[in-house]
Amino acid sequence: MNEDLQNYLNEIRRDFSGKPLQEDTVQQDPFRQFEIWFEEAVNAQILDPQAMTLATVNEAGQPSARVVYLRGTQDGAFIFYTNYRSNKARDLEQHPKAALNFLWRGLDRQIRIEGVVHQVDPQVSDNYFAGRPRESQIGAWASQQSHQLKNREELEEQVKVYTNKFEGQEVPRPDFWGGYMLIPHQVEFWQGRPNRLHDRILYALEGKGWTISRLSP
Ligand SMILES: Cc1cc2nc3c(=O)[nH]c(=O)nc-3n(C[C@H](O)[C@H](O)[C@H](O)COP(=O)(O)O)c2cc1C
Repeated sequence: MNEDLQNYLNEIRRDFSGKPLQEDTVQQDPFRQFEIWFEEAVNAQILDPQAMTLATVNEAGQPSARVVYLRGTQDGAFIFYTNYRSNKARDLEQHPKAALNFLWRGLDRQIRIEGVVHQVDPQVSDNYFAGRPRESQIGAWASQQSHQLKNREELEEQVKVYTNKFEGQEVPRPDFWGGYMLIPHQVEFWQGRPNRLHDRILYALEGKGWTISRLSP
């Protein structure tokens, strides 16, 4: 790394000034608390507040992280969509446990979620897929996500193939594409505060209920 960039890293310090997050005033249900924070992120015009990092682990214990979009919360789960033959899908088949992380910089907030992952019902994926723009539907067919391509042309060729194949008809959902639901057993809400004395409120599932505690920053 060049000297200027190294100096930047040595010197960058940003203090956080978020409003307090308190264990006695947060919601009892982490999904309700998530909804409140998500709404605040939308209102604060955070760019892509639905973007979340998804971490999975492969057979060899190697973690891997990538960004996916949250498409909803339902039945006590966080939902995202992807290719069922991608690397992340292969990881989830072997280890159906994952972590999610939201970072909302403009609000100095982070949400950390851990839990188990299942595929959603095919019907749920069908409904979601049907509502996507046609170009994205074709893209789902054209992309063998995570597999090696010879070049960009190969991908564009596949787009043409499926554009022609489905011309004049609705694009069906590929059986290798659909949703996952992550059912959390813990959710942490992190609020940046001055002097690195951040607020960390942890929800942990015990039996059927959530316990709420505060963690040291
Ligand atoms: C902002 C953003 C949103 C993304 N949303 C999705 C998504 O919802 N689903 C998805 O499969 N990939 C999404 N991606 C691409 C993934 O980060 C990743 O490249 C892809 O899923 C392949 O990951 P894998 O090879 O680990 O399976 C998104 C990337 C970015 C930067």
